[in-house]
Amino acid sequence: MSKTEHVPTLIKVLRGERMEKPPIWLMRQAGRYLPEYRALRAKAESFLDLCYRPEWAAEITLQPIHRFGFDAAILFADILIVPDALGQKVDFEEGHGPRLEAFEPRELLRRLEPTKTNTKFAVICETVERVQAGLPRETALIGFCGAPWTVATYMIAGHGTPDQKPARLAAFRDPDHFSRLIDLLADVSVEYLSRQINAGAEAVQIFDSWAGVLPDDQFERWCVQPVARMTNALRARHPDVPVIGFPRGANGESARHFVETTGVNAIGCDTAMPLKEMRALGETATVQGNLDPFLLVAGGPLLESKTRDILRAIDGVPHVFNLGHGIVPETPIENVERLIQLVRS
Ligand code: CP3
Repeated sequence: MSKTEHVPTLIKVLRGERMEKPPIWLMRQAGRYLPEYRALRAKAESFLDLCYRPEWAAEITLQPIHRFGFDAAILFADILIVPDALGQKVDFEEGHGPRLEAFEPRELLRRLEPTKTNTKFAVICETVERVQAGLPRETALIGFCGAPWTVATYMIAGHGTPDQKPARLAAFRDPDHFSRLIDLLADVSVEYLSRQINAGAEAVQIFDSWAGVLPDDQFERWCVQPVARMTNALRARHPDVPVIGFPRGANGESARHFVETTGVNAIGCDTAMPLKEMRALGETATVQGNLDPFLLVAGGPLLESKTRDILRAIDGVPHVFNLGHGIVPETPIENVERLIQLVRS
């Protein structure tokens, strides 16, 4: 049977079917905790060099599939591909994370070149095509991008920040230009995701890793509305492709409002979301999450009991098993193997 006739379990669950055993994949599942990733990484000049070599990026995307047999592969790339493709200088310094040439929104709008993203997006899409060609038919391929707010925090600060102060100040000081920057990022990101879908991505995830720091009205304006705009545009072009939102740190009323307003098919729930709340959200959308990545590092009996707690608590609604945030480099391989066993047994 070809992939077009076979719908992978992950896609069924994202469309609202519930399964006795949830499908499982892990955010950042391709990366430094894998020796085979570190080996390939050592050959590359830089992290971006890896992302822009479809042959390597495809191999890295498939590494966790070959080793663990996850239910989904996630494209190997980064949320900062979008600013890079827009012409902002992006670098990943060894041990320091991303470094960008930072500007205020007004200056960014003057400098960015949305018409020039084509070449770089095409390279990423070649990775998507290569992965899809090498993927078992029951394994889904997830494309992704960063949400406008989270990407803007890096573009304005020039690096990761604990409190996103530069972007939050810019949003207060110059809301007009900030708003235009967010809209530009939303539109370019829709184009980018749409191209990933045309190349073979079967679902997409929008990472809003820094959604949780914003007060209500700002969360509405810079996270909920832009993601709603993106989801609507994607729906119009690709009605059958599920969209996963990950507004990290938005719990309680904010998470419920996010799901209802954006119309995402699924919501990534972070580690802090109470299981009762996650179960309740599952009445409206598929819920994904939310094991603590540090518990996957620690392992042992607590990993087993907490995994069982999640499985028990989220029973009865469509659930994708995942972490509440990305896997960390020091995670022992055996703990990942044990987790998959537990979820599938
Ligand atoms: O999930 C996957 O396996 C797919 C690939 C992927 C990467 N980054 C690879 C990566 C995905 C989906 C991302 C998303 C991403 N990137 C986010 C959103 C998710 C989250 O974690 O909150 C963010 C905020 C970024 C930006 C980014 N990229 C940072 C802050 C860093 C440095 C910190 C770190 O973890 O190293 C990166 C680098 C990065 N992105 C690496 C990988 C494998 C490590 C780079 C290396 O090997 O040198």
